[in-house]
Amino acid sequence: MSAVGTSHPHESAVGHVTGQAHYIDDMPRMAGELIVDFVGSSFAHAEILSVDVSAAAKIPGVCVFTYKDIGGVNLFGPIIQDEVFLAETHVHFIGEPIVVVAAATHERIAQAKQAVKIELRELPAILSIDAAIEKKKFLTTPIKMEQGDVDAALEKSSHRLDGTFIIGGQEQFYLESQAAFAVPGEGNDLTVYSSTQNTTEVQKVVAEVLGLKHSEVVCICKRMGGGFGGKETQAVMPALMAAIVAQKTKRPARCQFSKDLDMMVTGKRHPYKAIYDVGFSSDGRVTALKIDYFSDGGCTADLSTSILSRTLFHTDNCYDIPNLRATGTICKTNLPSNTAFRGFGGPQGVAAIENILENVATKLGLDAYEVRRRNLYQGETGVTHYGQSVKNNVLPELFAQLYESSDYAERRKAVVKKNAAALAPNPLPASPMSPLRPDGHLPPHAGGGWEGGQHGKLKGLAMTGVKFGISFTTKFLNQGNALVNVYTDGTVQVSTGGTEMGQGLYTKIQQIVADELGVRFEDVKVMPTSSEKSNNTAPTAASAGTDLNGNAAAVACRKIRGRLTEYVARLWGVAPEVVEFREGHVFVSPLPTSPRMRGEGGQTMPFAELTQRAWRERISMGERGFYATPGLDFDYATGKGSPFYYFTNGACVAEVTIDRFTGALTIDRLDILMDIGKSINPGIDRGQLIGGLVQGIGWVTAEELKYSEKGALLSHSPTTYKIPSIQDIPDDLRLEFFDNKLHNFNIRSSKAVAEPPLMLGLAVFCAVKNALSYLSPREAADLKLPATNEEILMCMEKITH
Ligand code: MTE
Ligand code: HPA
Ligand code: MOS
Repeated sequence: MSAVGTSHPHESAVGHVTGQAHYIDDMPRMAGELIVDFVGSSFAHAEILSVDVSAAAKIPGVCVFTYKDIGGVNLFGPIIQDEVFLAETHVHFIGEPIVVVAAATHERIAQAKQAVKIELRELPAILSIDAAIEKKKFLTTPIKMEQGDVDAALEKSSHRLDGTFIIGGQEQFYLESQAAFAVPGEGNDLTVYSSTQNTTEVQKVVAEVLGLKHSEVVCICKRMGGGFGGKETQAVMPALMAAIVAQKTKRPARCQFSKDLDMMVTGKRHPYKAIYDVGFSSDGRVTALKIDYFSDGGCTADLSTSILSRTLFHTDNCYDIPNLRATGTICKTNLPSNTAFRGFGGPQGVAAIENILENVATKLGLDAYEVRRRNLYQGETGVTHYGQSVKNNVLPELFAQLYESSDYAERRKAVVKKNAAALAPNPLPASPMSPLRPDGHLPPHAGGGWEGGQHGKLKGLAMTGVKFGISFTTKFLNQGNALVNVYTDGTVQVSTGGTEMGQGLYTKIQQIVADELGVRFEDVKVMPTSSEKSNNTAPTAASAGTDLNGNAAAVACRKIRGRLTEYVARLWGVAPEVVEFREGHVFVSPLPTSPRMRGEGGQTMPFAELTQRAWRERISMGERGFYATPGLDFDYATGKGSPFYYFTNGACVAEVTIDRFTGALTIDRLDILMDIGKSINPGIDRGQLIGGLVQGIGWVTAEELKYSEKGALLSHSPTTYKIPSIQDIPDDLRLEFFDNKLHNFNIRSSKAVAEPPLMLGLAVFCAVKNALSYLSPREAADLKLPATNEEILMCMEKITH
């Protein structure tokens, strides 16, 4: 029995549903513990004239800190160091921290915040991509990726279409808000428990800002209540706040953002504006694409450059576009710095090209499936615009399989028929209640019904795909390390640099280690991620958690197993090659049918007995494993190379209904086909696929960030920001795994799953556009993303008036 490949429940599943799983705020209170909060800017952009904390500091039991109390360098940032912990002379977004306050009770904290006096002089703020473009406020110089002669190809193409596509941002909406708990030790020592995807980043930034050595700070993360990219870099703020209090007061200090505060002051998925010009042939083949992206980076760089490059890397998506030039510019605005969110810029690139292909199909009067199929990378000959060859390409087979299994052709016919009926002039005679105008014409919304009384509804159907590059596009981040300890009772502890945020990494690591050592799944325990055990780690991100850390754990296990194998071979006088580890036993192959049964002359021993003996023989049963992804090579100077180890592929067919009177959108059915290699845990991967898809659907249909004229987020709570809920998932959802026979590398021949399915949500967006195309044949609707009910309604108004 192999642990890998079976659907072991998530290791915290019971804890999650019973509430027994610990998050930062569940950790038991410590004696003398302080609550940490802060006072931030009330303006989106301002000069700080004065900060007076004297009254607050006089309140008994209250301590107050400003930038002047910072012992190290008040400057950090994951790529470009342009962020401060506490503002010094200027503030750049509403809520930017200026003063940290700490006290033992919430009452005292509230009093202290009231007593802090800050004088600001408001400055003009830039609050949109357009305003930043107008004022030429950019965070970095533009980036570019190019292949072929785009201008010449555009000139020559028989059809052209240009346009602007607006893509909205998205709040990560993890359930556990940003949080950290800092506990001082002897001397300068500081342990920071953090809800972070990146223990190393928290360790480093806390040390450097507070003036400590990296070796004096330990960062531990047992689990997060979700991260979704939002805790890749931005977990450092609460960590710094708790840490400065712990450092100065020598008392444990905890900082837990409220949901509303978290939504107001932390970064989100970048909104984009994409301006494109596409050339194509009469049969829908794209011959040239020129596209310029402008992203809203917020007030500092954070990960924006890396995110924008992933947008450029994903502008081709599944499609072979011979002439392509993509440029990207990051706008600097007076909003919290935007950051990683599942897909990391990829979704905006995929949205842009899928929207363009949908428009091309409408323009030509072709089925968009045909247009996509004709543009797919074929066989093994495809090379992306950044020069990576598309190896082990299964896209044509995958698309064809889903086309068949979803019954696309028949359903298309049904959609055409229903929409024709809906749009046919109303055959009923005019009644006093009839919507006929005095001139005898039908108002634009009127129409006949479908059978079953579906008056005024339109159907849409679309298939979109995804080809997502797996690996950090920053080469040096593609490394993982792990520590494995085997104990004398035969049980095992493993810790890696990978963090658990609900995605199931710990469960998969547990399965991999169980198989590598041939022990029972239950006898492996995954320990909290700690910078003390795993140093210099990459964030758990880019969907590469299992690839990097699972491989590292396997490397450590193989070293231990190697030593135990040698010992057993000596003990039994057999060749090492015939020693096997399985189901908590070691024995000599050929394998007996059950390890509890002795084979013909074969010796066997429980693993727990072996570990006892090995210990007495002074054989080391602890190991460190290291893994670096092979074969990565990309040159940012030329924009060419192979940044990805492989691609995760998938496709989705969405069928939707839109209401012509209200714009209301219903998703009728979703069919998904995903290529994730051989799944390590099909149950967990199913969860990731559906979760990612639904999160993507939320982004493209419902989630809207609304700001006041002054740059304050208005949709800052679950009551005003609409994420999809269980009712928004269609009853008819069909998910299949694609059997990829070409993929035979990576840990247990698996593929990363986490981010790619999010982009399949775009099938719903394209299905809405498809529905709208029945109202205005040959005229692509100018639908913004997200296609909220209001946006759909307004779009229909534009078409029919
Ligand atoms: N799933 C859950 N339940 N919670 C999360 O926060 N984050 C996503 C994805 N799935 C997330 C999740 C993101 S953005 C990434 S990059 C991956 O999980 C990270 O984990 P992995 O690399 O181990 O798949
Ligand atoms: N993906 C996710 N997170 C990252 C990346 C990436 O490519 N690069 C740096 N952080
Ligand atoms: Mo995920 S956006 O790479 O944390």
